[in-house]
Amino acid sequence: MNQIISAGSKDSEANAKKRRSAEAALRYVEPGNVLGVGTGSTVGHFIAALAARPGLVRSAVSSSEATTRLLQAAGIEVLDLNEVAAIHVYIDGADEATRARHLIKGGGGALTREKIVAAAAQRFVCIVDDGKLVGTLGAFPLPIEVIPMARELVARAIEARGGRPVWRRECVTDNGNHVLDVHGLSIPDPCALECELNQIAGVVTVGLFAKRPADVLVVGTATGTETI
Ligand code: 5RP
Repeated sequence: MNQIISAGSKDSEANAKKRRSAEAALRYVEPGNVLGVGTGSTVGHFIAALAARPGLVRSAVSSSEATTRLLQAAGIEVLDLNEVAAIHVYIDGADEATRARHLIKGGGGALTREKIVAAAAQRFVCIVDDGKLVGTLGAFPLPIEVIPMARELVARAIEARGGRPVWRRECVTDNGNHVLDVHGLSIPDPCALECELNQIAGVVTVGLFAKRPADVLVVGTATGTETI
């Protein structure tokens, strides 16, 4: 019983930190901006904060079907990236982040569209709770989206590089693909690994965001936020 209570309070602490970072990210949004919006529970707090400021943002490019539903429920029009000249700011969470603003993303399986929207954005503001800040990436299993027919081919290539890929069986991405979560990696050079893994045939997207890192990291803490 005690364990359940303490796990719950730890969760709600992390949740409060996520909310703080999400609300602080509003200061990067200017009236009339076209936003890019990521996916996940931290982004859920951000969309709730946007909904409380009607008229601030009228339209956004979404990174997933789940986020599209939340944006539409908040009265924000969802635009096709192909019809948008510029995304002023992209707001998204992460699973791990370093002070160099390199990220692991894809815990929610939306990494491909997230990487596309991040690439299209003038500014990428990443919102995380301080439990996700690490010295070296890799304790969180690295998500890799793969073409389904290449899943085992990619898995073998990753094993040969010392990783332990686990197929996320319950997950089919919004793009109809599979996800491998790669355990056992320590990632001292995220740019190099991102480039290397991108070369494996069948890999759609590697959940390392290092070649295009976040421009700003807003970290929710117990008492406020830290901006990196
Ligand atoms: C989804 C992601 C999310 O940003 C990441 O999983 C963090 O999620 P949460 O805010 O729920 O902790 O990359 O693909």
